[in-house]
Amino acid sequence: MTLAFLPPETPAIPLIAVSSDTLDPVLSALPPPQEAWARRARFRGKGGETLVLPAADGGIDTALVGTGSAGEQARGRFLVAQAVGRLPAGSYRLEGLAGEALEEAALGWLLASYRFDRYRKPEESPTARLVAPEGVDAARIERVASAEALTRDLINTAPADMGPADLAGAAQALAERHGARVTVTGGEALARDFPLIHAVGRAAISARAPRLIDMHWGDAGPLLTLVGKGVCFDTGGLDIKPASSMGLMKKDMGGAAAVLGLAAMVMGEGLPLRLRVLIPAVENAVGPDSFRPQDVLTSRKGLTVEVNNTDAEGRLVLADALALAGEGDAGLTLSMATLTGAARVAVGPDLAPFYASDDADAAALMQAAAQVRDPLWQMPFHAPYEEMIEPGIADLDNAPAGGMAGSITAALFLRRFAPPRYIHFDIYGWQPKPAPARPKGGVGQGARAVFAALPALLEL
Ligand code: BES
Ligand code: ZN
Ligand code: ZN
Repeated sequence: MTLAFLPPETPAIPLIAVSSDTLDPVLSALPPPQEAWARRARFRGKGGETLVLPAADGGIDTALVGTGSAGEQARGRFLVAQAVGRLPAGSYRLEGLAGEALEEAALGWLLASYRFDRYRKPEESPTARLVAPEGVDAARIERVASAEALTRDLINTAPADMGPADLAGAAQALAERHGARVTVTGGEALARDFPLIHAVGRAAISARAPRLIDMHWGDAGPLLTLVGKGVCFDTGGLDIKPASSMGLMKKDMGGAAAVLGLAAMVMGEGLPLRLRVLIPAVENAVGPDSFRPQDVLTSRKGLTVEVNNTDAEGRLVLADALALAGEGDAGLTLSMATLTGAARVAVGPDLAPFYASDDADAAALMQAAAQVRDPLWQMPFHAPYEEMIEPGIADLDNAPAGGMAGSITAALFLRRFAPPRYIHFDIYGWQPKPAPARPKGGVGQGARAVFAALPALLEL
């Protein structure tokens, strides 16, 4: 789904953004009947609060939307976007905001207009649309919002309709829109060259066989390699998950969905860089050919891995993709994965934890995250825990007993395979209950922050 503004010349109702600081002057400047109406309605300018001011003919003359106090803005983002669900259908022109606040409101508006209607046509509910605001790069905001919509669509799609082949199809469709090239490795070549991806995915039926998706775009500039976990459904394998944990595992390709969204932003903007996107796409299935606990697998890089839990499959498939990323000219490598439950316990669903080999890269990400309201939290590649991933019988253990520091040990595991300059995100990819601009369901995390940080990260 593409998310777009109305053209700037569209006739529209003025929608005045009001904070608690500007409430009084804004209300006093209204025609007296409207001022009286707004005061009688006790409009306060709370975040997302709306009020329509009637015209003499019964139409809407003007509308107000609250931006909220600093305290409200610290507790939530995209507050103005709540107006989308509260205002009567119509075209609105946002006034009274500038700079980052205007960008947030405009982006939030589009993100709040997102609907997932693949399986259920929405009731004909005409919505409140926004005219492309002046003073911001509206086309860029539309690209970012549409890329986020792609990520959400991919995650929200039922797992029967989003197997490894479907994920490859989605990458192919995106590539075609932007003149990128995609190669997909499967079958015997995958078994030979990407043994961990093959081992995790081989129990699936042939229509859902494992594969590695490799997309290239651009031919000049610094190299950015994105790697996304594409586990199209995670049953846990033989170490099968209980129903309560398996219930959300269609989202285990959320890392792949997030890097495809990020790739859409990069290519749509035409950034002067070379982009590579690697997605190991598998189904972690239960079957006679499932890989087993205590199997020892030899990875593409040559490191051996003892499987101590078939449910720690993400790090296995990513390991082979990261090894490929490190062959030849590596540049900056960034992975995104719904990798551990431990990351959720640590930071909850709203924050995206990340690990970075370079402190300067981490600082650039944190700064961009605050700017575009895509919150991140830096975690440590804590070297003293390296011994926790060394089982003795093989080079590496995919699931250290006890699970202490589970997100960190997973990140350390990935680092063994990654090129030196490396950033890793352990994302959740799911909005558990509706929030402004984020309906319940699949959600992109980190991609907007990375996109905003790219000029600093790659000196563009
Ligand atoms: N896909 C899961 C991680 C996950 C679970 C992410 C719930 C988000 C929400 C991953 O493959 C997994 O099962 N990891 C295990 C690893 C453990 C066995 C070492 C986990 O985190 O429990
Ligand atoms: Zn798992
Ligand atoms: Zn998984």
